[in-house]
Amino acid sequence: MVQNSLIVQKEGDGRSTKVPRNVNLQKLRNGYLFPQIASQELQHLEKYPNAKLISLGIGDTTEPIPDSITLSMANYAHALSTAEGYRGYGAEQGNKELRKAIAKTFYKDVPVKDTEVFVSDGSQCDIARLLLLLGSNVTITVQDPSFPAYIDSSVIVGQAGDFEDEIGKYHNIEYLGCGPQNNFFPDLKSVCRTDIIFFCSPNNPTGHAATRNQLEQLVEFARDNGSIIIFDSAYAAYITDDSPRSIFEIPGAREVAIEISSFSKFAGFTGVRLGWTVVPEELLFSSGFPVINDFDRIMCTCFNGASSIAQAGGLACLSCEGLEATASLVEYYKENTKILVETVASLGIKVYGGINAPYIWAHFPGKKSWDVFTEILEKTHITTVPGSGFGPGGEGYIRISGFGHRENILEASKRLEMLFT
Ligand SMILES: Cc1ncc(COP(=O)(O)O)c(C=O)c1O
Repeated sequence: MVQNSLIVQKEGDGRSTKVPRNVNLQKLRNGYLFPQIASQELQHLEKYPNAKLISLGIGDTTEPIPDSITLSMANYAHALSTAEGYRGYGAEQGNKELRKAIAKTFYKDVPVKDTEVFVSDGSQCDIARLLLLLGSNVTITVQDPSFPAYIDSSVIVGQAGDFEDEIGKYHNIEYLGCGPQNNFFPDLKSVCRTDIIFFCSPNNPTGHAATRNQLEQLVEFARDNGSIIIFDSAYAAYITDDSPRSIFEIPGAREVAIEISSFSKFAGFTGVRLGWTVVPEELLFSSGFPVINDFDRIMCTCFNGASSIAQAGGLACLSCEGLEATASLVEYYKENTKILVETVASLGIKVYGGINAPYIWAHFPGKKSWDVFTEILEKTHITTVPGSGFGPGGEGYIRISGFGHRENILEASKRLEMLFT
């Protein structure tokens, strides 16, 4: 918002260049959702400088990264100052050992080869690189509501038409309504074919993990239509029931799916930056050309490999000790989420999610998400995220994050009880 006002001030003051603004960026509505929430927090603190603000908004992790992991990064970084330990550029696809460890840890019973794993600086960046790979001529589908990077990045690369104010949607993007009315999964018989289907499970923001049967339907739909699924499993570590943790658990997915994932939410690497993408060898473009070859080209050309220090940390996460320590982190956030679910549900508010994801999705029928967001912020000094920021299907909901220090979660629960009792 601040940036927009800066641009407007400079227009017409004689200092503009002759470079036209990218028309795709011009199509974007509002700023990116999470910086908008962060700026609301800042404004709130300016208004109430003594308020003890509790942020259950943007979904950033809060707990320290386990010692054994930071020690590995520190040792690796320190060795860079020695003749024996110095390393420069690494493989663009990622450190071999780490690719193997990812394949072995996350795809143990699933047919994924280490050479199909591409290590990256996080899945948000992989979303943009995948869209670069696909170009502006493909059509896309997203869940509604969904993580906003899928739509916004698609608009930026030119895959979307104009924003239609009356319906709150971009032209040329297919929105799959996913709410409690359909168990968070649409009837695919009434869905139009697109080239690409973004699908996130467990879903951010609803917290719903798609069942095996739902994912089988999705894979069958993609196979029947010759579409590619981009499956986001960033929250797979939070799955408690027997929902699939990877799309590759579904037979036939290797011919129609790419998977993106991240160290951010299970290891607290939101600032360290590390993720990965799996592109199976069997996935082919309509010409028969392997998608993996083009993705490799993109990674070599537009990315020079993830930070070697972050990758050392990633390897430490996947050691026996690291896996145990990160599992405790996940448990901690799950307990937070359980506390919030119980509190909100006890207030007679219908809540979804929270079982297989660190997010709860609270319903306020008949109210506008932004109004509920503002009321909670003004009266309790707690930030959440308005559901409509994730798409028109999120109107009437707010997302509450379970990422936080336990004492803040308990305090937030008390404040919510006071507000809604
Ligand atoms: C569904 C989903 N995918 C991807 C990301 C981005 O993850 P990363 O930190 O790896 O870029 C997020 C971050 O919140 C997310 O919620």
